[in-house]
This record gives sequence, structure tokens and C-alpha cells, in this order.
Amino acid sequence: MSLGRVYVTRPIPQAGLDLLRQECEVTVFEDQDRLPTKEEVIEGVRGKDALLCLLTEEITAEVMDAAPNLKVISNYAVGYNNIDVEAATARGIVVTNTPGVLTETTADFAWALLMAVARRVVEADRFTRAGKFQGWGPLLLLGSDVYGKCLGVIGMGRIGQAIARRARGFDMRVLYYNRRRVDPAIENELQATYASLDELLQEADYVVLTVPLTPETHHLIGPRELAMMKPTAYLINPARGPVVDEKALVEALKSRTIAGAALDVFEEEPKLTPGLTELDNVVLAPHIASATTETRTKMAIMAAENLLAVLRNQRPKHIVNPEVLK
Ligand code: NAP
Ligand code: GLV
Ligand code: GLV
Repeated sequence: MSLGRVYVTRPIPQAGLDLLRQECEVTVFEDQDRLPTKEEVIEGVRGKDALLCLLTEEITAEVMDAAPNLKVISNYAVGYNNIDVEAATARGIVVTNTPGVLTETTADFAWALLMAVARRVVEADRFTRAGKFQGWGPLLLLGSDVYGKCLGVIGMGRIGQAIARRARGFDMRVLYYNRRRVDPAIENELQATYASLDELLQEADYVVLTVPLTPETHHLIGPRELAMMKPTAYLINPARGPVVDEKALVEALKSRTIAGAALDVFEEEPKLTPGLTELDNVVLAPHIASATTETRTKMAIMAAENLLAVLRNQRPKHIVNPEVLK
């Protein structure tokens, strides 16, 4: 007998779909080339027992109310700011996410962004492809050193810690800001020093954002914070776009208030703030920090297992609103 009817809002790696199909009746929004509209998500979820969605879908009370039997919303992401968790809890719907499996992959990419902007890798590639390389030059494409500099991590959670751990290999001084200090054993292992947000902004050569998007972190980095950073410093954002006031960032990059930025996420994804693409001192990526074959497969399996656990009346391993089970 089937455990229930499941709607999946985009094709995810096969391993996850296979797990779901063994036990459930599964409908997938099949278009590979575009996101479902809000109306399509509402139509898709109608009459279903479970929803597996992506961070690109806004799961509002209206979506939930299209499926009165909905028991679980399994997000194929660790961040869940796309889901109205309060509305889900009020309706007795379990919300799950995919923490941990993407930590190291995302940290790798944060470093790829950091290195790319510091050493002008993207500009260098464009320059070389354009046939402009006339031979080695003492002043050609000078960037900024990474080793021995100061890394500032804002949000010392799973990904922040994995980013800080990598900084040891670059002999960097590590400052971090978090809403609470992390375990002293972790500070010690990472050789990371707690700082206030302002201290970190004033001292770090590379400021990396790894906080979740919440009402408190919305525009955490705005004109005031950008002005506090060193003119030689770089901002790296692999977290969520709205953590940064993108208009203020464009201004800061234009006026060289800061040296550069590297962004995997945008305030109104997939739209970009006007002016951003015209700047040389910014590296842009289309939200791919967790995008490796291995990790996306692990996320698919984890999202499927979380969903199946709820349909089996078991406690899922990664629950966002545990109070709903009380
Ligand atoms: P996590 O382990 O929960 O870490 C988040 C950290 O931020 C925690 O240490 C948390 O502090 C801290 N924090 C939360 N609110 C704060 C605030 N108002 N001020 C200061 N610090 C605050 O999560 P994670 O697994 O590292 O993931 C972090 C975020 O990265 C996700 O939410 C997601 O948005 C983003 N992400 C992006 C990609 C991508 O593809 N670009 C991939 C994966 C994740 P506490 O210890 O007090 O909770
Ligand atoms: C990706 O952005 C995630 O939150 O998993
Ligand atoms: C550069 O290629 C050098 O040898 O210094």
C-alpha cells in the first residue's frame, strides 16, 4: 500500500525520487528549464499528503491550504526562509531541511569565491580568452594576498566553522561573530576569536557571511557596515541575498568603499541589482555553492528520507519545527 501522495516541485537527483517512488505515489513538476509558478505549485500540491520543495518556491499558508491533508514539507536545502514555518506549525505540518550533507561542499565554494575575487580569476579568464595576453607583466592583474590575512566569519554555524577550518591552511587570523559564542573547544580547534560585528568588519580582510536569512539578519550588511570595512577588504556572500543590502553594495563597489565582493546569492534572485554586472570587482555565481554531483545526491536522499519518515509516523532526522510533534 502507498504511504501517500507526494508532490515534488522540480526534478531532483534520481536517488531521491527512487526512494519516494518505492513507497509513494509521486508527481514531479517535470519542466527542467523553468521554475513552477505560484499557481502551478498550488495546483501541484492539491490533494497531496507530502511536499518536497526547493528554496526557489515560496511555501505560504495559501499553498498549505490547497492541501488539507499535508503532513510534511521537505525542503531540498538547509536554509528554509522560503517556508512560512509558523503557518506550517499552526497546521500541524512538519517542516524538514537538509543540514550537514552540504556543509563541506558549500565551504569549498565559499573559498572558491574568496580566491576568485582576491586573485581576479574571472577577470583573468576573460582577459586571456579575449586574446589580450601579450606576455607576463609585472603589473598585470594584481590582486590581493590571502595567506596570512584576517578572515571574518559572520555566522559561526556548520558552514561558518568549515570555512574557518580551511583558513588554518592559509595561516590566517580568524575572527567570528555569532549571536552567541560557540563552544570554547571549537574556538580553540579553529583558532577563532569572538568579535563584535563592528570589530570584525573593521579588522577583517575577507568578510564571509554564513548566517541564515531571518528578520534579524535581513540587511545585516548595509551602508553603515560597508563603510566600516577596510577599503582593501572583500565581502563574500554564500548565505542568502537579502542579508546584504544589494543597492548599498553596488554603491560601495563603485566607489571602492570596499575592494570587491563575491556573491553566490542575490537579494531578488534570479534578478540582479542594476549596475552589478558592470563592475569588475565582483564575482557572480548563480547560487551553486552546494552544487556537486555527490552533495546534490545526498541532499535528495536526505530530503526523501525526511519526508518518508513523517509519512511513516516516525520522527524525521532533520526537523525544523519539532514543537509540531508534541
Ligand atoms: P547553521 O549551522 O544553523 O549556522 C548558522 C549560524 O548563524 C549559527 O551559528 C547561528 O547562531 C548564526 N546566526 C543565526 N542568526 C544569527 C544572528 N541574528 N546573528 C548572528 N548569528 C546568527 O546553518 P548552516 O548549515 O551553516 O547554513 C547557514 C546558511 O547558509 C543557511 O541558512 C543557508 O541560508 C545558507 N546556505 C547557502 C548555500 C548556497 O547554496 N549558497 C548552501 C547552504 C547553505 P546560533 O548558534 O545561535 O544558532
Ligand atoms: C542552499 O542555499 C541551501 O540553503 O541549502
Ligand atoms: C613567475 O612565473 C615566476 O617565476 O616568478
